[in-house]
Amino acid sequence: MMDIMKMLRARKYMKRNEPFLASWHAYIGYEMGLFTAFERPFTVEDVADAYGIDEVLLEQWVKVGLSIGHLKEAGRNRYRLKNRWKLPKPKGQNSSGIILKEMMELHIPALLSYPDIMRGGERNHFDERRHADMVAETSRLLEVAAIGKVARQLRDLKTGTVLDLGCGEGGYIKMLAKRFPQIQFIGVEVSDSVAATAREVNAEQPNVEIVCSDLWDFEPDGDADVILMNNVLHYIPLDQRAKLFGRLSDWLNDNGVLAIVTPIAGHADSPPFAHAFNSFFLSFDNLYRLPAEDELKRWGVEAGFDFLGFQTVVKEGSWYIAQYRKEFKSA
Ligand SMILES: C[S@@+](CC[C@H](N)C(=O)[O-])C[C@H]1O[C@@H](n2cnc3c(N)ncnc32)[C@H](O)[C@@H]1O
Repeated sequence: MMDIMKMLRARKYMKRNEPFLASWHAYIGYEMGLFTAFERPFTVEDVADAYGIDEVLLEQWVKVGLSIGHLKEAGRNRYRLKNRWKLPKPKGQNSSGIILKEMMELHIPALLSYPDIMRGGERNHFDERRHADMVAETSRLLEVAAIGKVARQLRDLKTGTVLDLGCGEGGYIKMLAKRFPQIQFIGVEVSDSVAATAREVNAEQPNVEIVCSDLWDFEPDGDADVILMNNVLHYIPLDQRAKLFGRLSDWLNDNGVLAIVTPIAGHADSPPFAHAFNSFFLSFDNLYRLPAEDELKRWGVEAGFDFLGFQTVVKEGSWYIAQYRKEFKSA
C-alpha cells in the first residue's frame, strides 16, 4: 500500500510539472530562432546545418514540439509550425519570448539556488550589466495594462513636468509624451545601456529628456507635477524606502501626484505569483522584497502625502498602482 502511495505521489509531482515542458520548448525556440526556421517546412538536418547546431538535440526539440502541438509534420521528413499565434515572435519584434528568457535564465536558476543559500552559501547578486536590458524589456509587457491608469493623472495638467524614476526603456514616457505634447517628461535610469535604449525609443519626442543617473544622485531642476516610479521599489532596500518617499515629496509641487506601479505582497493569502516574485528577490543580496499594502500607505503618509488609493493593474500578478497627492501647505 505504501509503495502505491509513493508512486502516486511521485506521479502527481511529475504531472504537475508537465507544463514546464511547453515553456522550455518555447524558450529554446525563441532563444535559438527555431520558430523562424520552421515557419516553412524543413527537415531537422537542413535546419541543424543552416544554424550550425547539434542535430541530435534539435531532433529531440522537434519531437517535443510535435507532442505538445508547437510543430506539425509536413511530409518528407519536414516539419513546420502549428498554432503559430500561440508561439512567441522572433527576438527584437517586441516578443513575449523575453519573459520566457527571463524566467529560464534568471528566475528559475535563482529559485534553484535556495538549498545552497539556505546552507550558508552567498546570495545571488543581480548583475545590472548582464540583466538590466532583459528586465527593462520584460517590464514593458505590463505597460498596456497600466498606461490608461497612469495617463488619467495627466489629463488635467495644462503644462508641467513629469518625472519617471527608473524609467527603463522609456515605454511609458513614449506613450505619454505623444499624448501630452504640452508636458515635459524626464526619465531617470541608472543603467547606461537601458538609458541608451530609452533615448532611442523617444528620439522623435521633443518633450522628453532621459537622464542616466542613480535616482539617489539625481537633482531635478525644478519641482515636478507628477512623479511615476514603476516596478522599481524592489531595487530599494527596505530601510531606505521611507526616506525615498520623503525625497519624492520634496521633488513635487504642492498638490503634485505620485503614482507607483508595483506588485504588492506580504500576506499568506497574497496570490502565488507575488510569492514567486518575493522568493526570487530574496535570493539576491541587492534585490529586496515587495512592499505590503500598509507599508505603501504608511511611507506615503509619513512623507506628507494624502493616500488616494490602489487601483488594480493585473490581479493575478498582485500588481497595483498606488497613488498619492502631496498635501497642500498654505503659507
Ligand atoms: C523593472 S525595470 C522597470 C522599468 C519601467 N519603469 C517599467 O515599469 O517598465 C526597473 C528599472 O529601474 C532601474 N533602476 C533600478 N534602481 C535604480 C536607481 N537606483 N536609480 C535609477 N534607476 C534604477 C533599473 O535599471 C531598471 O531599468
